[in-house]
Amino acid sequence: MAFLSGGKQLIGLDIGTSSVKLVELKAVGKRGYQLINLGTANLQPDTIVDGDIINTAAVTDAIKSILANLKLKTKGVTTAVSGHSVIMKKINMPITTDEALAESIQWEAEQYIPFNINEVNLDFQVLERSTADGQMGVFLVAAKKELINNYITAISDAGLHTTIIDIGVFALQNMFEINYPEYINDTVVVINVGASITNFNVVSKGIPIFARDLTQSGGNQITEEIQKGLNISREEAEKRKVGGSGSPVTPDVMEIIKSTSEAISADIQRSIDFYLSTGGEKITKIMLSGGTAKTPNFTDSITQKTGLPVEIINPFKNVAVNTKVFDVNYINEIAPTVSIAVGLAIRRTGN
Ligand SMILES: Nc1ncnc2c1ncn2[C@@H]1O[C@H](COP(=O)(O)OP(=O)(O)OP(=O)(O)O)[C@@H](O)[C@H]1O
Ligand SMILES: [Mg+2]
Repeated sequence: MAFLSGGKQLIGLDIGTSSVKLVELKAVGKRGYQLINLGTANLQPDTIVDGDIINTAAVTDAIKSILANLKLKTKGVTTAVSGHSVIMKKINMPITTDEALAESIQWEAEQYIPFNINEVNLDFQVLERSTADGQMGVFLVAAKKELINNYITAISDAGLHTTIIDIGVFALQNMFEINYPEYINDTVVVINVGASITNFNVVSKGIPIFARDLTQSGGNQITEEIQKGLNISREEAEKRKVGGSGSPVTPDVMEIIKSTSEAISADIQRSIDFYLSTGGEKITKIMLSGGTAKTPNFTDSITQKTGLPVEIINPFKNVAVNTKVFDVNYINEIAPTVSIAVGLAIRRTGN
């Protein structure tokens, strides 16, 4: 499922609120992957808001700065859209073929999409065709054309070419499935908490049964609370939050981190409650990624709110990384933030 498809390259370009991430993988053997290139570039606040590109030129510049340091052989990339302009909905409808659905989807979707149907790109994935009641489950996705066009423009202005536009929650799921095949028969929530968006996907036996993006839920919230609480600049607040060698996080900052982490955990719990109210399978585990997963005690906070065990995702668990080429510390440091980019890099046509 994708809004645009074609091509065989393995470059994932994740345009996030705080940074752009590029990951190039090489397919090795039947199911294996190797890391070939990795690059990131920071974005200034308000370049991306709730998943919409506000400043296209700034995104292009960030992509160019990544490209300046890498030797890419191909120009085609897979990217993803997330946030408030992306609508995801699971619907039930009478069984029909994919072809027939492709023709009628516009009409079917109209009742579920809160935007003008002519202003969105639509796609769908049939989740299951149950013959018992003659119904089938369909995952419907709609994204504003304007949003998609902004992504395509930002990327093409940097000299690259968009071959696939995926959605964040699916890229997350693809990344999860190649790295954690041992959970294929379970029902887990795969969550990516970034700077301002939380991608949330309940994956049950390989099927995305409940997915949504929570906006204004992420690390920026923590930074903003520190900024307000201590009356300091945003940059200073970000530094005080992340801490690092020589400047450990101070108790006053830790207090704010704790209370804001609880608020983000409560958002996650609300989505889980909503999912459960639809009669969904019991969840056994939360798989967590995104830069905010590195917040001190964040996993404990989620466990306290949800009562579920939390495991931090390693997007390179089943991706070979040559330690002669890549610095291990850097890879471990960056890993949580590139989960979606890895998921995009493995996303090829028909995948
Ligand atoms: N060591 C750390 N401790 C706490 N927070 C951190 C740490 N490292 C990164 N972060 C936070 O992670 C966030 C960035 O994560 P990520 O790169 O996944 O987000 P993004 O993709 O840019 O944004 P989004 O997905 O919301 O559009 C920032 O809020 C940053 O402050
Ligand atoms: Mg992100």
